[in-house]
Amino acid sequence: MKKMEQLYEGKAKKVFATDDPNLVIVDYKDDATALNGKKRGTIVGKGAINNMMTNRLMKMLEKNGIPTHFVEEISQRETVVRKVQIVPLEVIVRNVAAGSLSKRLGIPEGTPMRKPVIEYCYKCDELDDPMVNEYHIAAMGWASDEQMAKIAEYALKIDSILIRYFKDINVDLIDFKLEFGVTGDGTLVLADEISPDTCRFWDATTHDKLDKDRFRRDMGGVEDAYLEMARRLQIEE
Ligand code: TMP
Repeated sequence: MKKMEQLYEGKAKKVFATDDPNLVIVDYKDDATALNGKKRGTIVGKGAINNMMTNRLMKMLEKNGIPTHFVEEISQRETVVRKVQIVPLEVIVRNVAAGSLSKRLGIPEGTPMRKPVIEYCYKCDELDDPMVNEYHIAAMGWASDEQMAKIAEYALKIDSILIRYFKDINVDLIDFKLEFGVTGDGTLVLADEISPDTCRFWDATTHDKLDKDRFRRDMGGVEDAYLEMARRLQIEE
């Protein structure tokens, strides 16, 4: 597999072409942003941890029947993935009230909910990723009804698989964000990453935050939180 020209640079990852038109290489950076790019910094070691954690979880989800873009990890920071057209939605799944839901609805962080909540945000930096519903998505043609049915089904299945997986390392999965893509042959697959950048992880005993909220909220101990998640998942660096 030959790494060729850079196709795209995002906030946390670069994407490179390969000699296979159906595959790209994702290269994870240590750069961190929050407040939609208004707050910037570096989290040393984050790129490697997010790459390896994402790949571990994607492989496990594949075994459980969720199609993903994952192909092969080629270094601590780089992974070959299937080239996809990203569905322009952030798919957020919540188990416990936190973050923007707590703010919007006035419900204290940590409040349990009767069932998981799925939210959709339209991926658009200039508009700060506004929340939308299935009617907006269908009206604008961002995804078909059939794709949305699959996205919701996969999102809830991923939620129940991940809740169990993290419970084993004494971590509560509070909420997380997923992105989906469509491959050249039209298959809907899970894409992007699943990491402390995109999930809220709370220690199940102490409720300590083990995720990017420590960076977003200037709490300190950011690197240690990522390292602690890597340690519990036995991800070698
Ligand atoms: P929120 O409470 O800020 O809406 O975030 C919900 C979850 O989604 C949280 O685990 C962080 C994640 N998330 C992202 O990964 N990217 C984003 O742009 C946003 C807004 C949230």
